Amino acid sequence: MKRALLIMAAMTTLAAPAMADEALAKAKNCMACHAIDKKLVGPSYKDVAKKYGSDAKAADMLAAKIMKGGSGVWGAIPMPANPQVSEAEAKKLAAWVLSQK
Ligand code: HEC
Repeated sequence: MKRALLIMAAMTTLAAPAMADEALAKAKNCMACHAIDKKLVGPSYKDVAKKYGSDAKAADMLAAKIMKGGSGVWGAIPMPANPQVSEAEAKKLAAWVLSQK
C-alpha cells in the first residue's frame, strides 16, 4: 500500500506541466466528480484517456460532452451539462483529459 502511494506521488510529480489545466478543471468544478487517477462520481481522467487513446475524433466529442453533459458510457450516472464552460475551455479540458495517460 505504501509503495502504491509512492508510485502515485511520483506520477503526480511527472504530471506537473499539466498543472495549468488542472487548475482550470478545479475552477470549473470538474474535480467535484472526477479525479485524475481514481473513480469518483465520474470516471478517472486516466481511464478516459486510456479508453480513447489516439482517436483523433475523441477530443471534439469529449469537448461537446463536457459542455452538454451525457450518459451511458461509464455507468448509470449521467454527467450534467456544464454551462460555466465555454467552447474554448471545453476543448482545452478535453485535450488535457486525453493527455492523462
Ligand atoms: C456532477 C458530477 C460531474 C461533474 C461536475 C463533471 N462530471 Fe464529467 N462525468 C460525470 C459522470 C457521471 C460521467 C460518466 C458519464 C457517462 O457514463 O457517459 C462523466 C464523464 C466525463 C468524461 C468522459 C465522457 C465520455 O463520453 O467518455 C469526461 C471527459 C468528463 N466527464 C469531463 C468533465 C469535465 C472537464 C468537467 C468539468 C467541466 C466535468 N466532467 C464535470 C460526472 C461529472
